[in-house]
Amino acid sequence: MKVLVIGSGGREHVLAWKIAQSPLLTKLYAAPGNAGIEQLAECHPYSADDIQGLCEFAKNEKIDLTIVGPESPLVAGIVDLFQKEGLKIFGPTQAAARLEGSKAFAKDQMVRFGVPTAHYESFSNVNEAKQYAIEAEMPVVIKADGLASGKGVVICESSHEAVKTITQMMSEGVFGDSGRKIIIEKMLEGEEISILALTDGEKILPLASSQDHKRVYDYDRGPNTGGMGAYSPCPQIPDEKIAEAVDLTIRPIVKGMAKEGSRYRGILYAGLMMTKEGPFVLEYNCRFGDPETQAVLPRLKSDLLAVMAEIANGNLKTERLEWDDRACLAVVMASGGYPGFYHKGFVIDGIEVLEKKSDFFVFHAGTARNAEGKFVTAGGRVLAVAALGDNLRAAHDRVYRDLSRIRFEGGFFRRDIGRRALEVYR
Ligand code: AMP
Ligand code: GLY
Repeated sequence: MKVLVIGSGGREHVLAWKIAQSPLLTKLYAAPGNAGIEQLAECHPYSADDIQGLCEFAKNEKIDLTIVGPESPLVAGIVDLFQKEGLKIFGPTQAAARLEGSKAFAKDQMVRFGVPTAHYESFSNVNEAKQYAIEAEMPVVIKADGLASGKGVVICESSHEAVKTITQMMSEGVFGDSGRKIIIEKMLEGEEISILALTDGEKILPLASSQDHKRVYDYDRGPNTGGMGAYSPCPQIPDEKIAEAVDLTIRPIVKGMAKEGSRYRGILYAGLMMTKEGPFVLEYNCRFGDPETQAVLPRLKSDLLAVMAEIANGNLKTERLEWDDRACLAVVMASGGYPGFYHKGFVIDGIEVLEKKSDFFVFHAGTARNAEGKFVTAGGRVLAVAALGDNLRAAHDRVYRDLSRIRFEGGFFRRDIGRRALEVYR
């Protein structure tokens, strides 16, 4: 099978790494890829958003299956376009991807299909939104309706802060059109975990649980990022409870959407808050998590490509996924200044040494090669370093023992990935 992976982050590197192990694969392509993906795939410089160009490329190269990493081409309708051209592609259609593309749509679906989620109201009128915020009990969570690279969510402790946030999103357009419509919801308390499931719109195969660390600094301080590290499995949810969480938070949506003619095919990511009353959905994503995937896929023993091909054909036959019992922990190394402004082009030392260690992985995100062929930084999140260990503690210790052997100017990482789980669930 000739396979094309679309995207250029750590998530796409781990997807490419996993797919490269499949006996079904004959040739792997990526667009645009990065310096790590380049070692596994033939990379072509199409932007992930150039859906027309990618479609032409897939047609010309006779690609048998295209796998979409990031959300924006999915929300823009890449799956519909490929399918119209008779090309096989893994991911939801534009209509189904609205689960991530519009938070108001996602909330509406959750309420209609009985998925537990925080009480909310949606607003397109700025004055109505402000009036509601003034009267609401604090804190509230304000969310831009559309895509905002994970930055469109603000927790407001006071009505003053809420009104300011509403003005920024709805009147000043800090998130462009994504914030012209907003939702205001009740703040939930608990541990956050990610549950992802592969589905053909009918059958559902859950992946192992994982937890991301969204804030930039240790002890969950500082602004939100795309994610600074992850581990799998999560002691916060025992494996035998995952099926129950899927029945509450994923199955009703998949079933409900299929019934209404918008069958969801691909991977559905539910961001959950484990509250005292059980799991509540914070958000859906229509793609794999980044960096959750870097902690989950090293544990997957089954052939992911075979499952993805079945889903793209609309007929998921695989009955269950096989997992390595060991734990995996991934720590992101980021450019100094991230998630704000950062410089690029710094030489990265030490990757080759760590890559050689067994059950140790260096997944590239923002990397490129310079004129001398050396790896250099090319993005905010530069790498994710991951290791398997007999348990979470062992995986944690393995990563942190060696992580600082990778160096680049200004580079930093969180020193507490997985630490809370280790302290609370010993
Ligand atoms: P979202 O993009 O909707 O997942 O929101 C980003 C982050 O904001 C989540 O990972 C949570 O940490 C936080 N968040 C979102 N909604 C809520 C909520 N209702 N209560 C508490 N925290 C929330
Ligand atoms: N790690 C969070 C996300 O992929 O949305």
